[in-house]
Amino acid sequence: MATSAQKRLLQDYGPWALVTGASSGIGYQLALQLSDIGFNLVIHGRNRSALEVLANKIHKNGNEVLVISGDFSNEQDNVKLLESTANLPIGLLVASAGYATSGLFADSKLDEEIDMLQVNVQAVLTQVYNFIQRFKIRNQSGIILISSIVGFQGVPYAAHYAATKAYIQTLGEGLSRELKKEGIDILVAAPGPVHTGFAGRAQMKMKQALQPADVARACLKNLGKKSTLKPGWLSKLLYYSLAMLPRSGKIRIMEKVMKDMVQRTSDSMA
Ligand SMILES: NC(=O)c1ccc[n+]([C@@H]2O[C@H](COP(=O)([O-])OP(=O)(O)OC[C@H]3O[C@@H](n4cnc5c(N)ncnc54)[C@H](OP(=O)(O)O)[C@@H]3O)[C@@H](O)[C@H]2O)c1
Repeated sequence: MATSAQKRLLQDYGPWALVTGASSGIGYQLALQLSDIGFNLVIHGRNRSALEVLANKIHKNGNEVLVISGDFSNEQDNVKLLESTANLPIGLLVASAGYATSGLFADSKLDEEIDMLQVNVQAVLTQVYNFIQRFKIRNQSGIILISSIVGFQGVPYAAHYAATKAYIQTLGEGLSRELKKEGIDILVAAPGPVHTGFAGRAQMKMKQALQPADVARACLKNLGKKSTLKPGWLSKLLYYSLAMLPRSGKIRIMEKVMKDMVQRTSDSMA
């Protein structure tokens, strides 16, 4: 049975939500939890079969679901998503799609870095801009963005990924004030390590990590109440243990942390 907080979410941001990155991890859990509350869902990712499995679960909850697959490194796929959802009464955008590259930037491939920039930044910017125009005619609506604990300072060995997340963090913080009077609630979640498909794709190894279901639960609980969220104990611990350091000190600590995360992956592959 839905709690009063869950009923508030559906009333303020329903009846439809769009979740990108819904085929896995944090986005998957957000879509599932929104469906449990009673939202109809547009779910997006590249992996269509994973999206179909999720769609079946959403159907079983008695909710409507629209599956759209595409790759945000291709701008046309983002346009397709926005066009195919134009007539749905969506009141909540969850932009969870994203990934990281890691290692020395000088050794990276520029086209791969530009692909990540397109997915983590340009696609999100376009979605946010587009949905703000739609949301202006609603009384209440919401946007959940996923930045990262790495977005609060430079991070050697994941320098470009951290820069994409700093962009999302800064954009969300600014917009949350600008859009308050329009009734558009923006929450930027900045998680530390989370157990998802993320680390494998980024070629990183995490020692401790949060569960994606807990991150999703914290996002839904805090939407409309906060603009920035450090979800779970680990995100808070990492953030506040660095908080008193000057920015240069934070960068040096993050250098050690990230070097270790990337190193352990290459050791295990050797
Ligand atoms: N896990 C962590 O430690 C962590 C920490 C801080 C922030 N984050 C952020 O959290 C968000 C969610 O990541 P996650 O941890 O849930 O990782 P995940 O399990 O790997 O999920 C990433 C999602 O993004 C989608 N995606 C990736 N590349 C895409 C592309 N080119 N086009 C369209 N969709 C794409 C994936 O879809 P397909 O699999 O179908 O391609 C998947 O649904 C990301 O923005 C990430 O940067 C993660």
